[in-house]
Amino acid sequence: MYFELTEEHLMIQKAARDFAQNELKPGVIERDEKQIFPAEQIKKLGELGFLGMMVDPKYGGSGLDAISYVIAMEELSKVDASASVVVSVNNSLVCYGIEAYGNEEQKLKYLVPLATGEKIGAFCLSEPEAGSDATSQQTTAIDMGDHYLLNGTKNWITNGNSASTYIVIAQTDVSKGHRGINALIVEKGMPGFEVGVKENKLGIRGSDTHSLLFTDVKVPKENRIGEDGFGFKFAMKTLAGGRIGIAAQALGIASGAYELALAYSKERKAFGTTISNHQAIQFKLADMATEIEAARLLCLKAAWLKDNHQDYALASSMAKLFASETAMKTTVEAVQIHGGYGFVKEFHVERLMRDAKITQIYEGTSEIQRIVISREVLK
Ligand code: CAA
Repeated sequence: MYFELTEEHLMIQKAARDFAQNELKPGVIERDEKQIFPAEQIKKLGELGFLGMMVDPKYGGSGLDAISYVIAMEELSKVDASASVVVSVNNSLVCYGIEAYGNEEQKLKYLVPLATGEKIGAFCLSEPEAGSDATSQQTTAIDMGDHYLLNGTKNWITNGNSASTYIVIAQTDVSKGHRGINALIVEKGMPGFEVGVKENKLGIRGSDTHSLLFTDVKVPKENRIGEDGFGFKFAMKTLAGGRIGIAAQALGIASGAYELALAYSKERKAFGTTISNHQAIQFKLADMATEIEAARLLCLKAAWLKDNHQDYALASSMAKLFASETAMKTTVEAVQIHGGYGFVKEFHVERLMRDAKITQIYEGTSEIQRIVISREVLK
């Protein structure tokens, strides 16, 4: 057992921390308020190699491990969870999905521009009536010989408008249940593909979340990932890694709020002393620090399992469940420690509290994580 970060991990941590402070922090309040996508910042993150962190350098990636990814996600999310969700989806749902399960042509055509940040990707599973119950896909991809005819609507798609490459999960043969589902790579601009309304959200307001509409879109057969019927398993396997990214995002939201509350408690005076001298505040800080440390260890354990080619689905669900609950609790307490100041935008913690909520919902709600965990422990 070894709990130290390597020199390389520490360098990545510093690079991500500096980027968050210097490039993400300025303007983060305005982007949240006006729902502005952090396009310029995402471009720079791509140039620095943060959009294809774990991708093999031969496909334009940084060739780093999943531990580096957790570290970077924590640092970026401390400041701007709207930017970090773009990093997470691109890295662990889209790049990983194509690198692990795509063929060589798909990797050269689609993975390289995604890993270098030249293009952004989106992962399209959720539907108006299929969020948690992912096998109930209504979007259809009918086999027409040399292509699939894609019809349907996807909802709440992260990077919905900013993406150029979309992995779309759709039903080809309903009689086969989850074995009749396929994952197709769809390009923006394919006739019949339209980006729908942008959601006006509670949190991560800088990220662009859209519905997507597919009407008789002809998707070439060569754009199917894996064998016919592999789409549901592809989604589950990819989401297991995605949940490490979102767990690390939740961890960052929690630790960002904690660091702000800790600093504030040492400055703010009440009843003749700084509030950090009051036990009511000390106990809150103690709980926050302990839960964040536990969340961090769960994230790193899941990443370590992935790096060591061991099964990480259980560990990633545990990390996501615990880290997202910690993010919610910690950010609420951080607002409380700030008192009235916590309720206004300039102090950042109210935004982190709003951002925390989505980590309990996307890439599988807390209830879904409990289903995955309980099935495993009851096996
Ligand atoms: N790895 C490999 N295979 C897996 C797997 C995994 N992690 N999980 C399930 N499977 C396989 C099963 O083994 C089974 O295959 P066999 O029949 O061959 O044995 C098959 O998949 C079906 O599994 P289940 O019977 O367990 O399926 P289920 O219908 O009971 O659903 C579920 C399981 C866990 C509830 C699943 O539906 C689920 O994870 N739902 C949540 C979906 C989700 O996370 N949505 C988020 C949308 S993406 C998003 O939010 C992105 C974004 O924009 C940020």
